Amino acid sequence: MRAILRGMRALCEAGAAQGGEAAPGFEALLSSVDWEAAPATESDVIKSDVIKSDAIKSDAAEPPPNPPTVERYLAAACEASSPPGSPAGDLAEALAASGHQLRWKDMYAEYDDEPDMAVFRRAYAYTLLVGPEAPFRSQRVKVGVTLQGPDVLYPPHAHKAKELYAVIGGTAEWKRGIEPWTARPPGDFVLHPSGVRHAMQTSAEPVLALVAWISDIHSTVVIVRG
Ligand SMILES: [Fe+2]
Repeated sequence: MRAILRGMRALCEAGAAQGGEAAPGFEALLSSVDWEAAPATESDVIKSDVIKSDAIKSDAAEPPPNPPTVERYLAAACEASSPPGSPAGDLAEALAASGHQLRWKDMYAEYDDEPDMAVFRRAYAYTLLVGPEAPFRSQRVKVGVTLQGPDVLYPPHAHKAKELYAVIGGTAEWKRGIEPWTARPPGDFVLHPSGVRHAMQTSAEPVLALVAWISDIHSTVVIVRG
C-alpha cells in the first residue's frame, strides 16, 4: 500500500512538473493530500458498509472478491507501462506487485439494462485510495486507480467534478468535448474540466490510470446520450 501511494505521489509530481494544462490541477492535488498519513485502521475501515466498500482488503473482514476485470487485466496493463525508473513505470511495478490486494469494485450497476454500459462495466474496475471514506482520508479530493479492459468503450459521460487522469499502463484513445480522439500512452496527463463530456476507447491493450477528482467530490457521473 505504501509503495503504491508513493508511486501515485511521484506520478502527480510529474503531472505538476510537465507544465501542461493539467499541471495546476496536479499541484492542487499534491497539496490536498497528506501523503505521509497512516491509512485508516482496519477497525475504522470496516465500521460501516459504505466505508467497507472502499477499504483495504482484510482476511478477517472477509471482503468480497475483486471484480474479474482485475484478475484478467491488471497484470497486462502494468506490463504495458513505461520502463521502471519513470513515474508511470514505477507505479505500474508497485501495482503489479500488490494492486490485487486493494479493494476494487465494479461500477454502474444501475445502467445494466443499457447494452453498451453492460459490456463496459464488465470490463471496468475502480479502486479508491484517497477520499472521505477511503483508506487514506481526505475531505477535499478523491484519488484512485481505474482499470479498463481491451476493446471496450467507456461511453461519453460528464460530472461537475474537475477531473485529472495520469495514464499508468496501456495506450487507449481518449476523447474530450468536441476534440478529436487522441491516443494517450503511459505518462500522459489529462484534464477534464467541470461538466465537459469525455470518453475512452481501448483496443488491443487494457488501460490503467490514476484518476483524481479535485472539486465537487460528491457530484455524480452522468452518462451522456445523443
Ligand atoms: Fe470522468
